[in-house]
This record gives sequence, C-alpha cells and structure tokens, in this order.
Amino acid sequence: MKKIAKKKKYTKKYKICVVGAGHVGLVAAACFAELGHKVYCVDKDKKRITSLKKKSIPFYEPDLESLVKKGIKSKGLVFSSSLPEAITKSQVIFIAVGTPPQADGSADLTAIENVAQVIAKNLNSYKLIVGKSTVPVWTGRKIKEIIHRYKKNGNDFDVASNPEFLREGKAIYDFFYPDRIVIGVESERAENILKDIYGSVKATIIVTDINTSELIKHAANSFLATKISFINAVSRVCDLAGADVEKISLAMGLDRRIGKEFLQAGIGYGGFCFPKDVEAFAYISKKLGYDFGLLKEVKTINEQQRSNFVAKVKEHLWILKGKKIAILGLSFKPDTDDMRFAPSVDIIKTFISEGARLYLCDPQSLNEAKKIFKPSEKIKFTKDPYEAVKGCDCLCLLTEWGEFKELDLKRVKKLMQYPLIADGRNMFNKQRISKLGFEYIGIGK
Ligand code: UGA
Repeated sequence: MKKIAKKKKYTKKYKICVVGAGHVGLVAAACFAELGHKVYCVDKDKKRITSLKKKSIPFYEPDLESLVKKGIKSKGLVFSSSLPEAITKSQVIFIAVGTPPQADGSADLTAIENVAQVIAKNLNSYKLIVGKSTVPVWTGRKIKEIIHRYKKNGNDFDVASNPEFLREGKAIYDFFYPDRIVIGVESERAENILKDIYGSVKATIIVTDINTSELIKHAANSFLATKISFINAVSRVCDLAGADVEKISLAMGLDRRIGKEFLQAGIGYGGFCFPKDVEAFAYISKKLGYDFGLLKEVKTINEQQRSNFVAKVKEHLWILKGKKIAILGLSFKPDTDDMRFAPSVDIIKTFISEGARLYLCDPQSLNEAKKIFKPSEKIKFTKDPYEAVKGCDCLCLLTEWGEFKELDLKRVKKLMQYPLIADGRNMFNKQRISKLGFEYIGIGK
C-alpha cells in the first residue's frame, strides 16, 4: 500500500459507528480508524464479527487485512454485533448495509429502514446519521422520517449522504486518495462534522443537498457503465468491419473531453455495483416520471457481450458437448474474489448447458466459485493455469489477472489439445498470439 494520508494534528476525532462489515463498511471502518477516529464496526452476521475479531477478513481486498489488524491492535477499531450499544457509544453513524436488487430492478432498502429504526430507539444524544450505501434518491429523506416516527425523546439528529466511490481491489487506495468527496447535508453542523472526519484526506469536497448527493452516485456509476457499453457496441461494429477497437479506444481516450478510462472492450461489466445501480437508477427515474431508455440499452449491450463471446467460441469449436474448455479468471475483475454478477458466471452456465467439460481457474475466487458450481467429473477447479489448459480445446480468458499476463504461452500451446484462445478482455497481443501458432478470438479486433 502506498503512504496513507498525512494526519493533521488539528483534525477532530469522532466516535463513529459503521453499520455493515461488507466491502464498503469494513473498508470505511478500517480507514476511519487509521485516520484516528474510534470506530465501532457492527454487522448482524455474528459469525462474520467473530472472525473479524480474530482478524480474519471475509473477502479478498489488498491491504485491508493489515489495516484491520492495526486498528484492532490500537483499539481504534472495535467489532461488535450489538447495534444499539454501538449507536449509543457513537456521535456519527455511517450506514453501509446492503441494498440488493429486487426482481423489478429496484433496490431493496429493508436493511436501511431496520437500521434507522434501531437508531431512533437508541438516540441517547445528538447524532449525525450518514448514508454511505448506494441508494436511490429520497432515501435520506425516508431515513429522517423513520427516525422522527420511532424516536422516544427530544434528542436532535441530522441525516446526511456521503456516497462511497471506492473500487473493489483498490479500495484502500481510493479511500485515502479519492478524486472527490461528496457530502449531502441539511445543516452546517453536519457539514462541519463530515469535513472534520475527512480532515486529513486531501481531496476536493463537494457539498450539496442530500437528494443531489444520492443522485451523484447513481449518475456516476451509470455513466461509467454507459462508457463500457458504448465501447462494447463499437467493438461489435469493429468485428463486422474488420477494424481494431483497441486503437479506437486509444484515439478516443486521448481526447481529454472523453478520457481513456473505462473504454476497454470486453465481455462486459459485472460486480455488485454497476449491474444493480444501472437498473436501480432506471427504476427510480421511471418512478419519478422519466423513462431513462438509454440505461436499458446499456444493460442490453452488456448482456449481449456475454452471449456474443460464447457464440464466437462455438463458431470455432462447432459442437461444445464433450469439448474441454479452460476458464482463466472467474472474479468480475482482477484483485478481488468477488463473483457477484460476474460475466464468467453466465458464460460458464452456457458452456455447462451445452455439455462442455470445464476447468475453472482463478488465483483468489475458487471458494466463491464452488458456492456457485459444484465440483464434478465435468467441472474441475484449480489455481494453476497450466493444469487448467492441459489437453483443452479452448482457453477462455475471462478476467485479466496479472498472473495470466505472465503466462508462458509456448508452454500453454504444448499443453493444449487445440490451440484456441478466446480472449474476453483483449489482454493478449493478437499478432504475438497468432505468431505463436494459436487461433485467436478477441473482442472487436
Ligand atoms: C464501481 C465504481 O468504479 C466505483 O467508483 C464505485 O464506488 C463502486 O462501483 C461501487 O458502487 O461501490 P467496482 O464495482 O469495484 O467499482 O468495479 P470497477 O473497477 O468499476 O469495474 C466494474 C466492471 O467494469 C468490471 O467487471 C470491469 O471488468 C468492467 N470494466 C471496467 C470494463 O469492462 N471495461 C473497462 O474499461 C472498465
């Protein structure tokens, strides 16, 4: 991990409760403790809290373990499964619970309402309640209503919004070196507290009202997803026209108005954020009276990238039944073990339904993968890419892990029965691969 933000002496320290020890909550809790605040990190999952107390991290995130250990040692970070106790001890409460998607695309806000009720019943002094989870606009307003409805005394409180922009796999770095910090507030008191909490993090702070702050997060994630779907649609045209999407990305990205980030064509975006946030933003827009048709198309293009990839493999292999396919990369992106809404899951399911024999390989996600796919004669698991490709008819690269970039391709070719590489992330150099004697399937190149 690079150096952490310098701590300024004058920065005020707060007693903070972070509700939810998931990717957002646990990272925020560990980082707030690193900034010198006293943090109570609470989760209703007692097993998770017990393991965290023993310094065992429930998911893979670079540098998180050392930060958690440091926090526990300094007593700045305390794990608990008692929400009422953590609330009464804290001045500021960050809500970082899950807002999973429902069948209609809307976000399930049950966990948020439950936490708001517990806060209301344990409001033993003024508290600032901050929404950190990604939520639809008007959630802050609802939290305020709920607390007013259930609180038992005259104690004052403020509600605020402080959306999180960190990326899995780079979460700690993103926390200490954010492009911006967004705070949505209704009072100067709340604004000052949040500015104090982040006092030693160097970043532009955007102060706005709560509705705008909530919308910023949905708009930012949806825009990034749109960029990816846009370049993926261009990749389809490239396939048909015999052009190179990578050169197009490069040339487009050098225009500073466009920017080069999030213009990598591939099998599409996955993870627990973009797929659900694009849908939730479209849903809430519709509910408010605007049909955000663009976002529906973004989703459709994203799904087509997966089916189009499978179709290309089929074009080469013809019959998939009985063919051996090595899948390199299962997580939705490198440096995480997260497989939620990963493109690999849909692709693997289609291969299974066509009767292929699969060897699934990933440096971090095998435990997650085994929760989705049962090991059998037809589905095997390994961390070793060379074992995976042995005797196979096709190598499908689905996540661009650093380890896979370093592969000895001559060795890979010798091990494979038929030298076909389907590169779902445009990770390999097409010319080099072809020179080595492989057949190559890329995305728009
Ligand atoms: C995303 C946002 O980038 C964060 O700013 C945000 O805080 C987070 O969601 C969230 O809402 O919590 P994350 O889901 O960790 O972060 O992953 P990204 O790095 O954004 O990647 C998302 C997906 O897009 C991955 O499947 C990745 O492979 C894909 N992608 C990304 C592309 O296909 N092409 C690209 O050019 C970039």
